[in-house]
Amino acid sequence: MCLSLSYTKSGLTASMYSGLLLLSMWALAGTASLWDSESCPERLVGAEGRRTCPRSCKSDRDCGGKRQCLCDSECGLSCVVPGRTCPWPLPLNENSRASLLSPTPSFSSLLEVLCKPGFTLADGSDATVRRCQGDRQWSGDKPICTEAKSPELPGVRTCPLPQQVINTFSIHGDASVGTSIRYSCLSGADIVGRQENYCQFNQTWLYPHPNCKEMLCQPPEEVEQGYVVAVQKTEYEVGFDIHYLCKKNFLLDGPQKITCLSNGSWSAAPPHCRARCIIPAERSRVVIGGVKRWPFDVTDGLVPHGENVTFFCKHPQKQCSFTAAQTCFDGKLETPLCYLEPTWLQYKLFPHRLVSEIEVCEPGDVE
Ligand SMILES: *[C@@H]1O[C@H](CO)[C@@H](O)[C@H](O)[C@H]1NC(C)=O
Ligand SMILES: *[C@@H]1O[C@H](CO)[C@@H](O)[C@H](O)[C@H]1NC(C)=O
Ligand SMILES: *[C@@H]1O[C@H](CO)[C@@H](O)[C@H](O)[C@H]1NC(C)=O
Repeated sequence: MCLSLSYTKSGLTASMYSGLLLLSMWALAGTASLWDSESCPERLVGAEGRRTCPRSCKSDRDCGGKRQCLCDSECGLSCVVPGRTCPWPLPLNENSRASLLSPTPSFSSLLEVLCKPGFTLADGSDATVRRCQGDRQWSGDKPICTEAKSPELPGVRTCPLPQQVINTFSIHGDASVGTSIRYSCLSGADIVGRQENYCQFNQTWLYPHPNCKEMLCQPPEEVEQGYVVAVQKTEYEVGFDIHYLCKKNFLLDGPQKITCLSNGSWSAAPPHCRARCIIPAERSRVVIGGVKRWPFDVTDGLVPHGENVTFFCKHPQKQCSFTAAQTCFDGKLETPLCYLEPTWLQYKLFPHRLVSEIEVCEPGDVE
């Protein structure tokens, strides 16, 4: 007896209908307890692994109470309560529709699950039949209908384009039989080989696929006050890294490393090595990094690139000071316009009256 529970609607043949019929008869026979030990299949070894088989039996006398000895498909003859039912109705599923093929969802009843048009089960069929088992569960795994992959348009045959070719070239044309395609390198490099190809009727290409010229990077601009940590070359291959270092007292501004890209460009412009700045004040304190200090107390009288230096300026009318900041940029640091360098005499004779030493103006004093 054929127990295949899957069929495709499109392929519903007479033999399949008769299979269904057989199944229904089997179901009826089960309910009617017409099975004897000879026509019910033996309990399949391993059946318990997939479902819970009720106690096996030879006749009703082996089962207690309301149980009867009925054929429970792969579990063979088992003690089941024929009145018990399987879950019904089933939860709604948007991709499929379930319908009972028997009047009630009781033992041995059949349930048909049909996928929505355009959806199929894992095995490619679009319908399946489930049977109510002695363990009160529908047979088989819960059917899941998923969107069917649209088959290739019939009659449109193409020549294969390997992934490596697709990754290397932009292809103009659809690679169908009897047509030509044109290649261009995605990297922008020149093509080595034929730029055009023809898809023959036996779905093979007339010529081998071409190649792209290997791109090379030109030497990057030199970095003043910096070193290149790499062998200097006239051309660099794709993936080559150039690392940079700056000379002592210079600060790296930009990437520490640049890489030759597959299109022959560098991943970034080379960095700059930025110089320190001389503090352009001598006889007045300044604020550097939050600390107010005399310029001669600062090591070498220099600040690094990017450092802010805050100067004290005198209020034009009042005896108070306000601040103005300037930033060191690659060796250049100017005093703010308002800053006036004290004279040597002022510095020597009236150190307490120096602009950086007098009272700070009230917020309202400064416009
Ligand atoms: C395909 O057809 C071409 C030309 O008709 C022929 O040269 C080639 O050998 C064929 N290739 C295969 C794999 O059949
Ligand atoms: C090379 O590729 C990079 C990153 O993909 C891009 O930013 C750059 O503009 C390209 N250079 C050229 C010359 O096409
Ligand atoms: C300097 O000042 C600017 C703007 O106020 C700020 O963005 C920068 O972080 C400061 N630099 C330092 C080194 O404190």
